Amino acid sequence: MRMTSIDEIAPDLFRLCIYVPDFDMQFNHFLVRDEQPLLFHAGFRRMFPELREAVSRLIDPTTLGHIAWSHFESDEVGALNHWLEIAPQAQPVCTLVGKLVSVDDFAIRPARGMTADDVLTTGKYRYRFHRSPHLPHGWDAGVLFEETRRTLFCSDLFHQFGKCDPVTTSDLIEPSRKAMQQMQQGPLADYMPYTSQTEGVLRGLAGLKPETLAVMHGSSYIGKSDKLLTDLAGVIKESFNDGH
Ligand SMILES: [Fe+2]
Ligand SMILES: [Fe+2]
Repeated sequence: MRMTSIDEIAPDLFRLCIYVPDFDMQFNHFLVRDEQPLLFHAGFRRMFPELREAVSRLIDPTTLGHIAWSHFESDEVGALNHWLEIAPQAQPVCTLVGKLVSVDDFAIRPARGMTADDVLTTGKYRYRFHRSPHLPHGWDAGVLFEETRRTLFCSDLFHQFGKCDPVTTSDLIEPSRKAMQQMQQGPLADYMPYTSQTEGVLRGLAGLKPETLAVMHGSSYIGKSDKLLTDLAGVIKESFNDGH
């Protein structure tokens, strides 16, 4: 079994990282320790044993309260039912579209399908889901925002390849541009569609003034993040809108 590296990247916010050499890519899962602990990204089904072992170094995994993710893909939700089996009070949490389109048929318990008007309180922390259709991809996509510490759980946005540090305070735009261009050359081209909504959605997320970006693949970012979010629109446009 591979070892999952665990880093507390902000108070109560743990990054559980599994590096997959075949893809030269990190898969990050985020655990927020609170009265009702929340896991963002259930992870691949095949990674469940190692991820459960990592979570159990931080909390009793049977006490998980919420399993959340951005969009319905295996690295985000593959192990969802395994978590729901071991944690009897855990609830799946996603966008309303995610609940209606996929999750309530797939999961062993119904999801809480959130809109930006709903607030999820887990103790000290409060969350809202912001819809981001087709960003990074998928009709059901959304990003979770924790309002107390201003943490944006942004899934595949700011994807970087390689063995990245857990956190960075340097610009994420160049590494993301490099990764997007690399993606566009290979079998996973058209990773993030540039649509008429892309810029507006990113501007909306910048308006939340996040101070931490919890990134699924690569380093997370600590610092004022609004400009990074607005600049990302340009990267997506030039990487995925050109000739496709
Ligand atoms: Fe994805
Ligand atoms: Fe991903």
